[in-house]
Amino acid sequence: MATLWSYAHFCFCSLAVLVLGIILLFLMYQLVRTLQSLNQESTADIPPGSRGLPLIGETLQFMAAIKSGKGFYEFVRIRRLWYGRCFRTYIFGETHVFVSGTESAKTILNNDLGKFTKRYIQSIAQLVGYQSLLCADYQHHKLIRGRLSNLFTTSSMSLFIKQFDQLIRENLTTWEHKSTVIVLDEALQITCNAMCKMLMSLEGGNELEMLQKEVAHVCEAMLAFPLRIPGSRFHKGLQARKRIMSLIEKEISERRRGIGAFQEDFLQRLLTEDDKACNDATTTRLTDSEIKDNILTMIIAGQDTTASAITWMVKFLDENQDVLQILRNEQLQLASKSTAESFIRLEDLNEMPYASKVVKESLRMASVVPWFPRLALQDCEIDGFSIKRGWNVNIDARSVHLDPTVYNEPNKFNPSRFDDESKPYSFLAFGMGGRTCLGMNMAKAMMMVFLHRLITTYRWKVMDPDPSIEKWALFSRLKSGCPVIVTRILKDTDGFY
Ligand code: HEM
Repeated sequence: MATLWSYAHFCFCSLAVLVLGIILLFLMYQLVRTLQSLNQESTADIPPGSRGLPLIGETLQFMAAIKSGKGFYEFVRIRRLWYGRCFRTYIFGETHVFVSGTESAKTILNNDLGKFTKRYIQSIAQLVGYQSLLCADYQHHKLIRGRLSNLFTTSSMSLFIKQFDQLIRENLTTWEHKSTVIVLDEALQITCNAMCKMLMSLEGGNELEMLQKEVAHVCEAMLAFPLRIPGSRFHKGLQARKRIMSLIEKEISERRRGIGAFQEDFLQRLLTEDDKACNDATTTRLTDSEIKDNILTMIIAGQDTTASAITWMVKFLDENQDVLQILRNEQLQLASKSTAESFIRLEDLNEMPYASKVVKESLRMASVVPWFPRLALQDCEIDGFSIKRGWNVNIDARSVHLDPTVYNEPNKFNPSRFDDESKPYSFLAFGMGGRTCLGMNMAKAMMMVFLHRLITTYRWKVMDPDPSIEKWALFSRLKSGCPVIVTRILKDTDGFY
């Protein structure tokens, strides 16, 4: 018994020494890295900024900005004011540089192949999956992007617009029965339903409801501290991801076994193309993990962004009644040409030039995706500063959108500024270059269809003008959700407004 006890004691002590050793090694490694980079910093014309505290850098300030009502972009905004167009900071154990000139945006966004690659912070990669288009390296990205872009055809777009129109019309009928409508909540529901229908033909029922909740958990975890402790926001996000993966896995397996009706959606097209690729040695198949990660990616990339943009647009229009009036005239004229039952068609969007500019202006002012993360693959120079290999370089799209040297009176909501062509690399709402948003046309179409239906159905008044941003949201979302009260627009017996 005594021998057994001393053996257990010996094992315990060895384990403790091992753990202590690992911790010490880790701390020494971090110390060496810190000293190395301090050394680097003193030598060259690196971007101005602060490294913050040893080891943790400015992570605490970053987290504090996320927790504040101004959102995580506040961290960037303040440093942009302190240090100028190009500055550096140290968060989550890595150096981050932020740039906000159109010329540097051009250099970085056009240069994915050579000097930069896209990179999100590790926690985001763990949530959307390492096979996601958002995290893939250059070669892998090329393969997946090629396969996914094939899905965005004119015919899929036409079908999608019809489905989206139907969803909005159904949703809008409920608004007049509510004392207050939270635009963000409604928009999230509509865009989630639209994405899930287009991607996997999920409609109504428990599965859709469950998916909507789980996607919200994943989105909330994106900026959370990456602690895998049960109950933490990050852990909840990872658990939600697991459940979403199982749901998609089940759907794939049922389709492969021929269970259920045949569906004409993105998932089906990916599976069919994969079957074809099996018999064709020249085409590479997507693995199931690639399919699953990218279905989740498209739900996240398409739902939250578009819903947030729609919400900002409703707020901006309420605050700019002159713009709203011009838009209303355009939309009522279009509505008078169609019957109450007819759906909006893809070609109808060409009849909405002003709405298209309202969408663009809303996206500029809201900058729903405020910055685009990249990783420097080699030492290089940006804006006259040296950038070291391995640094994260973020394009600060919001600063570009609000730069008075790029846009006249940048804080004024003025859709007519887009009458003329924009300066190169000045409109970055959907990014640019090889990583431009895949769903760009779809997102614009959703916003225009939404505008048409809202404007021809209701007048609205925003009840809370608070512009605070929601905490923990990766995309800029209004904290208030934009509460509105609506009054139905009445038509006369001939159908005129
Ligand atoms: C208003 C709505 C939207 C906005 C503002 C938006 C914005 C963006 C931006 C800025 C990027 C590029 C980021 C970068 O370069 O790092 C991007 C990428 C992407 N977006 Fe969107 N997006 C929207 C809607 C959508 C929709 C509806 C979908 C899908 C149906 C979608 C799918 C994607 C995908 C898959 C990527 C990754 C592309 C790649 O890395 O190759 N987005 N989006």
